[in-house]
Amino acid sequence: MDIKLKYDYFVIRDHCRTGLVKYLEQILNNLPEILNPKMLDIGCGTGVPTLWLADKYGGAITAIDADPQPLSFLEYKIETNKTSSKIETRNVSFFDLKVEPGTYDLILAEGFLNVVGFETGFKKVMEKIKTGGYFVIHDEYKDHDKKNMLIQENNCKIVNSLLLDETIWWRDFYSQLEYEINKTENARLRGFFISEINEIEQYKSNPSLFKSIYYVVLKS
Ligand SMILES: C[S@@+](CC[C@H](N)C(=O)[O-])C[C@H]1O[C@@H](n2cnc3c(N)ncnc32)[C@H](O)[C@@H]1O
Repeated sequence: MDIKLKYDYFVIRDHCRTGLVKYLEQILNNLPEILNPKMLDIGCGTGVPTLWLADKYGGAITAIDADPQPLSFLEYKIETNKTSSKIETRNVSFFDLKVEPGTYDLILAEGFLNVVGFETGFKKVMEKIKTGGYFVIHDEYKDHDKKNMLIQENNCKIVNSLLLDETIWWRDFYSQLEYEINKTENARLRGFFISEINEIEQYKSNPSLFKSIYYVVLKS
């Protein structure tokens, strides 16, 4: 594979992904200040949220992903990005991450729990958060009441949430992605965009399926 082409693809995808970062900012705005937090980003991908989090909080952040390619692009960005924070990247599955229980002040998981299963993932993540720490989840909007119940049963509570409906997903992500994919100069990258092209088709045939939600969960 031509890694230069893959990086060109990541640049475009990141550019489109950035349209959604304002919602992470919105959901975290009301949190009390955390000084020099120890943070973990699970399933960080190319790290658009990771870099934003590092800029906002300082402290130290570990960014992990099971897939080496997006992670190597994040590493490339870290080298060229002037952030004062310490970002450590690790190519590891979350389930193989060895850290002491209660290590982190804040854990972010965007698009991770819906891959591994909410209940399994939630309980494992909670073990790694300090009492009084926060778990910020970006998840598909599905089974909200069941998830809320599970959260409460685990001595946690949702202190903030934000629904991203289908209009947001179109306006702030898919319309931009479609525009970029259709540019003549990006035709050479079409092979990398197959899953995004399919997602856009699915969106157009049933937009209501494209809803997601942020939860900020406090461990008490
Ligand atoms: C939908 S992407 C989200 C990327 C990034 N968090 C974002 O919001 O832009 C989900 C990521 O989770 C990663 N992932 C899936 N299972 C994982 C696991 N068990 N451990 C670590 N990362 C995992 C995938 O490789 C993928 O990069």
